Amino acid sequence: MHQGEKMVVVSGSNAGTMAGQLAETLGWAHHPLETRRFPDTEGYIRIPSETIEALRSEPVVLVSNTFPDSGIVETLLMLDAIQDVRNGRLQNLREIGPQTLPEVGKGVILAIPYFGYSRQDKRFKPGESISARAIAEMLATRCDAMVLFDLHAPAVLEAMPIPVAFTSAMPELANHLKETVDPDFILSPDKGAIERASSVAHQIGCEFSYLEKTRIDAHTIVHKAKNLDVSGKSVAIVDDMIATGGTICRAAEALRGQGAIEVHAACSHGLFTGGAIARLLRYVDGVHATGSLPNARDVISGGPALARGVYEVMDTLGLKP
Ligand code: R5P
Repeated sequence: MHQGEKMVVVSGSNAGTMAGQLAETLGWAHHPLETRRFPDTEGYIRIPSETIEALRSEPVVLVSNTFPDSGIVETLLMLDAIQDVRNGRLQNLREIGPQTLPEVGKGVILAIPYFGYSRQDKRFKPGESISARAIAEMLATRCDAMVLFDLHAPAVLEAMPIPVAFTSAMPELANHLKETVDPDFILSPDKGAIERASSVAHQIGCEFSYLEKTRIDAHTIVHKAKNLDVSGKSVAIVDDMIATGGTICRAAEALRGQGAIEVHAACSHGLFTGGAIARLLRYVDGVHATGSLPNARDVISGGPALARGVYEVMDTLGLKP
């Protein structure tokens, strides 16, 4: 590294908050890339001239979401442009600057705070796309490693052709809940969130249980009644994501029905679709999320979790921070 230069975190239009938090945690520089939309909605990206040398001098982390769909294209375009810069392919029609430079080595890490399509992780009927795998494999052709933040079901990406780190903000979420809510009880709203939620309960040192959920459709959820020892207690429901809020509202109803006096909802990914926050606030006393997606309940930094993932893949690639 040149004297005084810092390693670089870059971002496009959809994950600037988490990129800033990661850069702050690592003590690296954060360079936002130029992103625009053409009138027909197609995207345009460009690496600013002042960022080009920084991208060539050290490993780089691109923080970008594959959500909404435009995020997939933007992520691919940014990775492609970063690879061209690192491989010294700078030819341009206006002949601005050097046209070619020597290649620099491996070191493009893609960190995805919210991996869109993560929920289609299996082929439920013949002929379906395993969307999570399809998108990850496409992105893996343009980077040297990936960091996935609180991925819904990591198993689908366990055989990727490049190193992948699965990282989680549950330690930071537990600290936040302990400091602000100090819950007596943590509830996982379904079996899928047991591991995440129980790690939070363990860190806080409080009781834990889970519900059995059956999803009838996107808006209809049935929770199997279960006796929970929550009478007079403050409970936090912990999930990986909140979309419509239906899962949390039904779980909160079950908790209130069994005497919980305070109920909070906490997640990594606050999608909050279609008025979800207003709906949630009819059932819970507080909603807590990270900023993996821009949302009004972003109170937990995802920087430390992303940094753990970046260090893990750098170590696997033999790169020194
Ligand atoms: C499902 O398995 C996920 O972990 C979440 O529980 C679910 O996606 C939340 O969706 P919603 O807020 O629409 O109920």
